[in-house]
Amino acid sequence: MTKAVRVHKVGGPEVLTYEDVEVGPPGAGEVRIRQHAVGLNFIDVYFRTGLYKAPGLPFIAGNEAAGEVLAVGPGVTNFHPGDRVAYYFNLGGYASERVIPADKLVKLPDHITYEQGAVLMLKGLTVWYLLHKTFKVEQGHRVLIHAAAGGIGLLACQWARALGAHVIGTVGSKAKADLALANGCDHVILYNEENFVERVKQISRGELCDVVYDGVGKTTFPGSLSCLRPRGLFVSFGNASGPVPPFPLAELNNHGSLFATRPKLNDYVGTRKELLEGADTLFAAVINGKLHVPINHAYALKDAAKAHIDLESRATTGAAILRP
Ligand SMILES: NC(=O)c1ccc[n+]([C@@H]2O[C@H](COP(=O)([O-])OP(=O)(O)OC[C@H]3O[C@@H](n4cnc5c(N)ncnc54)[C@H](OP(=O)(O)O)[C@@H]3O)[C@@H](O)[C@H]2O)c1
Repeated sequence: MTKAVRVHKVGGPEVLTYEDVEVGPPGAGEVRIRQHAVGLNFIDVYFRTGLYKAPGLPFIAGNEAAGEVLAVGPGVTNFHPGDRVAYYFNLGGYASERVIPADKLVKLPDHITYEQGAVLMLKGLTVWYLLHKTFKVEQGHRVLIHAAAGGIGLLACQWARALGAHVIGTVGSKAKADLALANGCDHVILYNEENFVERVKQISRGELCDVVYDGVGKTTFPGSLSCLRPRGLFVSFGNASGPVPPFPLAELNNHGSLFATRPKLNDYVGTRKELLEGADTLFAAVINGKLHVPINHAYALKDAAKAHIDLESRATTGAAILRP
């Protein structure tokens, strides 16, 4: 028997149930791992509430973690017991041990800790594809990053700055503003107190942004569109405040022939080649000191409900981990 946090019915944080689960031996192409750190993500909240549909009930929550290989199934040749590994994978993450397809795992370089690995595979890879693939951020680009002090936010601000961009971030408090400024933001807007569209106009002297990265959703829409220069790109990658409502396509025309995309990580690391390209680039950025991984909160796995309460009430900054 091992321990896991399961959801038997969708709902509030109280539905996260810490309990014994049976983990079988790995089947063909699978690996059994002991997890040392699990990443906390807003997508875990969406699955818990039912905004994103799990394939069935009950399910084990959680989408990224790191640990060591205990056993490999038939046909697995590239992983061995004792290997240090990390992954991003839909569900099953809030557990002390689990079985997972080998092709979802990447090996952790010696200089990357389990804690770092556990928060880089979903958050870090997302930041990698958003800044390198969805829109290729380059020297001189002006980018707006909402929720700049969050798990995605702090990594995105640092990396965008390292790529030479001029970074504007929005945050919900003064303390978060200080953090965002220390992590790559050139300007920070307190979007609960200030009109962020007007501030972006002021900061950019009317030139607006090349790209807006919006993981907040409902409350920053349609303001985000007004922050873009003609032919700029609106990247709506999340719904921390609720989903963006349906809108007429003509809005993109009205705001200056804009482009818009609603990307997800699966579609950028769907092949083994893409996954390894992203992970290699990400780990190199951390090892070279380009990217610092801010793990600002740690909870016992059994306290996953408390972690969700903190994340949803905007009490966290940077990344948080659960310890099995
Ligand atoms: N599409 C993808 O591939 C992908 C992958 C990973 C994550 N995501 C998305 O990225 C976003 C950030 O994820 P994360 O895990 O790093 O979370 P996070 O940014 O650490 O936490 C969410 C933040 O959103 C802000 N926020 C604004 N309105 C909110 C509200 N009504 N309720 C709660 N928070 C609100 C809060 O910051 P302030 O207090 O500063 O406003 C909060 O700290 C999420 O939308 C997530 O779904 C998308």
